[in-house]
Amino acid sequence: MSEPTDLSPSDAAKLAASRAAIALVEDGMKLGLGTGSTAVIMVRELAARARAEGLSLRCAATSQATADLASSLGLRVEPLDQIGWLDLTIDGADEVDPDLNLIKGGGGAHLREKIVARASDRMVVIADPGKVVETLGAFHLPVEVIQFGWQITERLIREMLEAQGLGQRPILLRKRDGQPFLTDEGNLILDLSLEAIPDPARLARGFADIPGVVEHGLFLGICDLAIIGKPDGSVVEL
Ligand code: 5RP
Repeated sequence: MSEPTDLSPSDAAKLAASRAAIALVEDGMKLGLGTGSTAVIMVRELAARARAEGLSLRCAATSQATADLASSLGLRVEPLDQIGWLDLTIDGADEVDPDLNLIKGGGGAHLREKIVARASDRMVVIADPGKVVETLGAFHLPVEVIQFGWQITERLIREMLEAQGLGQRPILLRKRDGQPFLTDEGNLILDLSLEAIPDPARLARGFADIPGVVEHGLFLGICDLAIIGKPDGSVVEL
């Protein structure tokens, strides 16, 4: 693989994590490919390695953007249901805590990301050091909701947060170019500013009780390994 030049420290860290994760890939594997800027670096590196070594891989993508990128680089991308169970998923994250619980969905792809991760023997997160936290919640928590009655869903979320003692928190309808952001599934995203999530499992149960919530960005007990890259090219595993 060629050595990229002029990388920012953050991109150098993402590259280091990507390369360490890609070292886990073996010929014949069925892979889940994540979404986001770290996943873009990983997919480029994966495609370069697959080309150089003639690896035969089957890939399921967690977003249309990743599917388009991976296909354009020569990776074989197929619908998840056509591939079936996956050996390994490699994805980024917005936050990783010491128990490998995550916040994901900064790119709005957490619904497909969670399905793909749960359909894998192993989920490996790749991230730069800025993603490692003691307690989840400083990053906004994305919640995907269906369009029908979304303001009622938002109200029910507010009531649930209050009932859980999380108080009144800002909730923003995600927008892009002034218009509501639509996920690959045609749903809306509500971004919750919670500051800290003392009991992620309880919060996840709260979302499960609200009709209209399709999926939230808490990934609890799903990640098997987090590879944290550093700008000097080294990595730390959590
Ligand atoms: C997309 C995600 C991403 O993995 C997460 O937002 C991290 O993105 P980046 O690598 O750009 O920091 O969950 O839905």
